[in-house]
Amino acid sequence: MASVGTVHSGNNVNLKSEQSVDTPQRFSLPPKPSVTADSSLRFKISGLKVSYGPKEVLHGIDINISSNVVTALIGPSGCGKSTFLRSLNRMTETVRTARVEGDILLDDENIADMDVVKLRRRVGMVFQRPNPFPKSIFDNVAYGLRINGHKGSLSESVEHSLRRAALWDEVKDQLHKSAYTLSGGQQQRLCIARALAVDPEVLLLDEPCSALDPVTTAKIEELLFQLKPSCTIVIVTHNMQQAARASDFTAFLLEGRLIEYQPTPKLFTTPADPRTEAYITGRFG
Ligand SMILES: Nc1ncnc2c1ncn2[C@@H]1O[C@H](COP(=O)(O)OP(=O)(O)O)[C@@H](O)[C@H]1O
Ligand SMILES: [Mg+2]
Repeated sequence: MASVGTVHSGNNVNLKSEQSVDTPQRFSLPPKPSVTADSSLRFKISGLKVSYGPKEVLHGIDINISSNVVTALIGPSGCGKSTFLRSLNRMTETVRTARVEGDILLDDENIADMDVVKLRRRVGMVFQRPNPFPKSIFDNVAYGLRINGHKGSLSESVEHSLRRAALWDEVKDQLHKSAYTLSGGQQQRLCIARALAVDPEVLLLDEPCSALDPVTTAKIEELLFQLKPSCTIVIVTHNMQQAARASDFTAFLLEGRLIEYQPTPKLFTTPADPRTEAYITGRFG
């Protein structure tokens, strides 16, 4: 089995790659650490199948996700990107008809055996549409801290999370205003701050920029770079440029199967599978 490359059905794709990753940078950011053979694996996923009622939409996905990198999921609408992402913190269980088979190990522990509240504290999620609670900016960020019985200064923790989400300067004088007074891009960063407040090890982002303007999108991409040392990020994106700019590894899904999984520069320059090439050059999807 190749350590990285085209996916042959049944093979476990393992990104213990010896290649360093050197994604072109658009922002003035510090150089990215290279991803080496030693990158530890946060998720080990094997034989993941998900069905809604009688319809199977993921047909046996084998993939390992490295720690402290950004992994992008791309693929045409309906190929199962959101389903895959939601299975990583068992959000699939919120759909009554959903059935999940296979193993998802988080730091070598099967997530099926974990307490779901603890799992979701470790694996946070941000959705496509910002969904702030009908509360103040402050209370949105403090929400997870309060329900987890946070010890210490709530205000300091709220400020820290808003800073990490690159929103603090814009909201510091209006923390007690309703979250709904914020723009769409600010609301999305607020949702990221809310997810970050409980210090997740993994952040799942499902097309977080699809409704945002380019300036806000750039802020969120910059945020991904900044979060990497402390967080493993998996992002679904429809935007190929975004995947190319912001991720270290890219997985291409098609009709519920993982077609190719590569270091991002490789997938976008010399894809191994003709279906990947067709997709990234806009021939379908
Ligand atoms: N809650 C649901 N109930 C039934 N079918 C669903 C549900 N969510 C998604 N699906 C179906 O599963 C397939 C994959 O959907 P999804 O994971 O949302 O794909 P993507 O995010 O790539 O667009 C699609 O055929 C979609 O219609
Ligand atoms: Mg989706």
